[in-house]
Amino acid sequence: MKHYTFLDLGIVNEPYFAELSEAASRVIESGRYIGGREVDCFEENIASACDAPMAIGTSNGLDALRLILLGYKELRMLKDGDEVIVPANSFIASALAVAHCGLKPVFAEPDYDLMVMTGRSMEPFVSDRTRAIMPVDLYGRVAWDDDMAKIVSRHNLLVIEDAAQAIGARSPVKGLFGSHKAGALGHAGAFSFYPTKNIGALGDAGAVITHDARLAETIRALANYGRSPKSDSYDYRGFNCRLDPIQAALLNVKLKYLQRENADRFARATAYNNTIHHPMVKTPLITAYVNDCVWHQYVIRCERRDDLRKWLSDNGVESAIHYSSPLHRSPCMAEYATHPLPVSERLANEVISLPIASGTSVKDASDIGRIINEFK
Ligand SMILES: Cc1ncc(COP(=O)(O)O)c(C=O)c1O
Repeated sequence: MKHYTFLDLGIVNEPYFAELSEAASRVIESGRYIGGREVDCFEENIASACDAPMAIGTSNGLDALRLILLGYKELRMLKDGDEVIVPANSFIASALAVAHCGLKPVFAEPDYDLMVMTGRSMEPFVSDRTRAIMPVDLYGRVAWDDDMAKIVSRHNLLVIEDAAQAIGARSPVKGLFGSHKAGALGHAGAFSFYPTKNIGALGDAGAVITHDARLAETIRALANYGRSPKSDSYDYRGFNCRLDPIQAALLNVKLKYLQRENADRFARATAYNNTIHHPMVKTPLITAYVNDCVWHQYVIRCERRDDLRKWLSDNGVESAIHYSSPLHRSPCMAEYATHPLPVSERLANEVISLPIASGTSVKDASDIGRIINEFK
């Protein structure tokens, strides 16, 4: 029986081994191990990939989100206790960033069909204490639409986009500052380059994208112990959240292949959608505007999720669940679990992620689709 691995990072990175080794050697031989050319170049590359004016490399995606929120606190645009809307169906880091910064996460529902928060799904959770929203581009799909833009403008909200899973995605609706690209849709956005992401480092790495020069300057200082880039003074009680230059060099290599990687994922997602026809299984939406999702995960839904997972496993197919618990059900978020979130609960019970990374061919995706169609 053929075995279908969910994800093998050795296979993902194999086409790039030679270039990655060369890039790492360049940094090793340079004698410069903090900041430097590779980091500067990465920041230019990622800003340009997002049609945004500024990017700051960070230690990881969680720190990128935290730096944005803390930056806005230093700029007095957010203060302790302000409410930030976060979809309840996300990775824990989205909510952790908000709670770590002394802000209050208010969990909102996603749209059931799209599996991301939309203006309409978010609106009931907006109050007169809401100061910011954190749309999460979950599974690689941009969470931005006209309704959301209108709510943001009506309530004068900051938009901090968690684009950790969506590098390269393009929104059909223009962002607040004219860019259509994930990460650059709101005032500031965060990326993660955790190794499993569409563009993954060989360790931890992240980035902030912003249109706000004052925020960028504050974040640069905060990420470097609070030291002002212009003087020798420590203006803020900062941290050490800098991007490692070896990771920057590796990411400079991998960013060159972003479009190819995302196109391959789209081909596998299309093969799944064309093959899976089962009355109990709901496939994710491929919209007419195909680039609105870069298929970080390919997620189907089934009310008999555990039975279907067992069927897949019995037939050699590895699968995963993103995520088995909505954020308000995590014990560390109990104090923010103030209202029912039935759509998020339902998704947590139904979702199954199928193999989508390189290592899974288009034919594999069709074969897995046929295995699903035989589920009784
Ligand atoms: C939606 C989301 N937000 C934030 C993060 C945090 O990124 P990191 O793991 O780089 O800290 C991740 C990924 O891990 C993520 O998937």
